[in-house]
Amino acid sequence: MGEILGLGCTHYPGLLLPDERLANGFHHLLTAPNIPDAAKDRANWPDELLAEIGNDHGAAAGQRYGARMAEGFRAVRASLDAFDPDFVLMFGDDQYENFREDIIPAFCVMGLDQDFSLRPWAGGRANRWHEGADREMKLHGQRDVAKFLARALIDRGIDTAYAYKPLHVDGLAHAFTNTLLYLDWDRTGFPWPVLPFAINCYGTNLIHAKGGSASLFVPPQEDAPDPPGPPPWRCMEVGKAIAEILAESPWRVALVASSSWSHCFLSPTNNYLWPDHKADRAMFDALSRSDHAYWRSRTRDQLEAAGQHEMLLWMALMGAMEALGQKPVVHDYAETHLFMSDKCFATWPAH
Ligand SMILES: [Fe+2]
Repeated sequence: MGEILGLGCTHYPGLLLPDERLANGFHHLLTAPNIPDAAKDRANWPDELLAEIGNDHGAAAGQRYGARMAEGFRAVRASLDAFDPDFVLMFGDDQYENFREDIIPAFCVMGLDQDFSLRPWAGGRANRWHEGADREMKLHGQRDVAKFLARALIDRGIDTAYAYKPLHVDGLAHAFTNTLLYLDWDRTGFPWPVLPFAINCYGTNLIHAKGGSASLFVPPQEDAPDPPGPPPWRCMEVGKAIAEILAESPWRVALVASSSWSHCFLSPTNNYLWPDHKADRAMFDALSRSDHAYWRSRTRDQLEAAGQHEMLLWMALMGAMEALGQKPVVHDYAETHLFMSDKCFATWPAH
């Protein structure tokens, strides 16, 4: 019988940078031509945002936030260390990175080479670890398991795509790379084989808006939006199927959902400047009480209105945990007005 550990965290790109630059994303949004001027006027900002910005453009808040995020990742990593899985299956999105105009799969399990490496700072990108462009993360893929899982899903009527090598990126999309970087926050290494499982979270915005905030900075596009990603309930069903398949396997598996919750730049709720706390809080309260029915009731339109596109990754994890009857331990739930998105760190211990 397999054993499964559930893990939830974030791959928020802002954390790649040193703490003093954490507020840069917000200040960049203030330059977006498609955000109304009134929304950019600090006279109209809530006290919570003004408190985070302080009198140093958010530098002190960035220090506190970076430290808080580090503790969240350390808590998740401690669960991973204690469980010591045979491999780590990671649910991640793709923001016009590996998947582009030539193919957009709803789901894609990636059976990478037994030995592969990532060069996260190729080209000399700044990073909080002050690592150089030659920094190489040596990792391991799991092609046999990917084949097994794809076959088992297809046999259950879930026609997943699969891939054995990247298509358009040198390495992996940022959802996976950042998660690997953050789950090795203290640079002790990441010894477990990795099974990336991509879910099309950006749907109608994927090619149309290049999977991000591009629509805030360019004139409105006139072509029709792209077809949507898979509906939330379907992601829960896929997570459930994965859990049932792995529970019957001989393996010990960590299932990771890595994403921030509502992304401010995707939602008009607060003029694209800070997250939809109300929508996130409702999902967090439901997660805390293992109210899977609430999660399943959320529609794509509701998620997208709140900027919760990437919650499809957590939907897959919640579906898995529901199937296994595992309960969450919440390590942190961090609301913010300044740092683009709310973040949750949680683990679901194996039975
Ligand atoms: Fe993402």
